[in-house]
Amino acid sequence: MSKQKFYTSLQQEVARIDAAAVSKRHEHLIEGFTKEANPKAIIDGREISIFNSNDYLGLRHHPVLKAAEHKAGSELGTGPGAVRFISGSFAVHRELERKLAQFHGREDGMVFSSAFAANLAVIFSLIKGQSKDSLVSSDTLVISDELNHRSIIDGVRLGNLSSEAKLIFKHLQADSLEEMLLANKGKFKRVVVITDGVFSMLGEYQDLAKLRQVIDRHDGAYEEGILLIVDDCHGVAACGATGRGTEEITGGRADVLIGTLGKGFGADGGYVVADQVVIDYLRESAATYIYSNSISPGTAAAASAALDVLESAEGAKLLATLRSNVELLKEKLQAAGFAFAAPSTHPIQAVLIGDTAKTRDLTKAMYERGFLITNINYPVVPKGRDEIRVQLSATQTKEDVEAFVKAMQEEGKKLGII
Ligand SMILES: Cc1ncc(COP(=O)(O)O)c(C=O)c1O
Repeated sequence: MSKQKFYTSLQQEVARIDAAAVSKRHEHLIEGFTKEANPKAIIDGREISIFNSNDYLGLRHHPVLKAAEHKAGSELGTGPGAVRFISGSFAVHRELERKLAQFHGREDGMVFSSAFAANLAVIFSLIKGQSKDSLVSSDTLVISDELNHRSIIDGVRLGNLSSEAKLIFKHLQADSLEEMLLANKGKFKRVVVITDGVFSMLGEYQDLAKLRQVIDRHDGAYEEGILLIVDDCHGVAACGATGRGTEEITGGRADVLIGTLGKGFGADGGYVVADQVVIDYLRESAATYIYSNSISPGTAAAASAALDVLESAEGAKLLATLRSNVELLKEKLQAAGFAFAAPSTHPIQAVLIGDTAKTRDLTKAMYERGFLITNINYPVVPKGRDEIRVQLSATQTKEDVEAFVKAMQEEGKKLGII
C-alpha cells in the first residue's frame, strides 16, 4: 500500500496547480454543434459562438471533408490496423504525403499521429547520434527561440545534450541567433536552429527571411552547415496569400517544415516536409512514425480533401474572408478602447487586459453572453500582460464579429477595463 504515498504526492501536485488557478482539466464539454455554416457549439444545452478555435478556415465542418472521411472510413475501416511498416501504408496516406510535399514545394513528406509526435521524433532524430561511429550528438549545437512550443522543447530535451550544446536565442531576434553562431564557430560540426513560425500566444511571426540571412552568412563556418527547422502549425492554412503560412509571409524558407492537420486543415495529425534524403532518414529513425499508428484512413482522406479546398477558388475566398474578419475585429476592438498585447495580422489576436482577475471575469462574462474566448494569465504571460486570446475563423460573418465586439465592449465597460 506504499503506492498511497505516491498518490498523495500526485494529489499535492494537483492541489498546487488548482491553488495557482492554472488547472487545465476542467474544460467545457461540447455536446454538439448547430447546423449553420458557422456552427455554434452546444455546451450545457446552450449555443455558444466559438472565438477560440484553431479551425481558422472552418474546414472541420466542411461537407467535402466530411464526405471524404466517410467514404474512406467505410471502404478502408475506421483505424489503420497496425503501424505502417508492419501491415503496410494506405494509399490515402501516401497520396496525402505527396500532396503536402507538393503544396509546400518540397521533395517528400511524412504524416504523423500529431504535430507534437512529429516534433518529438523529427527533432530528436536530427540532433541525436545516428550510430556510435557516425553522427554523434556532441557534434551538434541546437539553438531554439525562447518561446518555442512545448513539443519543440521536449524534442530537444530527448536529445540529452549538454548545456553548451543547447542554446536559446532571444524571442524573434535574429541578432541574438547570430551572436550564438559567431561564438560557437569551431566548437561544433553542425547547427540545428529551431523555431515556431507563428507563436500562438500573441500571433507573431518569426521573420524567416532574417533567420535565413543569418544562417546563410554563417553556414560555411560549420563543417556540416546549419539546418533550419520550422514548426508552422498556426501558420499553414491560416495565413499567407495562399495559406502557405510564415514562409509565404516572410519569404524565408525552412529546411525542414513541420505542420499540423488539426488546425487550419480541419482534420487531425501532423506532418513534416523536406528534401528526399531527410525524409528517407526520418522514415528509418522517427520513433513516433515507426512504432506508433498513423492517423485513420478517414482522417487522411479528410486532410487530403482540405488541401484540395485550400488550393481551389473557394480556399482563396476563405483566406480573404479570414483576413477581412481580422481587420474588422482589430478596427472595432480598437475603436471600443481595447489595446492589443502585440501587433498581429494573424487570426490570433491577443487583447491586452493586464489584470488577472479582470481577465478571468471578462472570459466568464463573455461566456454568459454566449461567446467562448481564452484568458491567458500570469505565469503563462509576464505579470501585467494578462490577455484574452481571440481566434477568428473564415466562416464567421461580419455580423458575428460585430456581435462579439459589442459584447466585449459592454462587458469590458462593466468591469472597468475600457
Ligand atoms: C506551435 C505548435 N506546434 C505543435 C502543436 C501540436 O499540434 P498537434 O495538436 O497536431 O499535436 C501545436 C498545437 O498546439 C502548436 O501550437
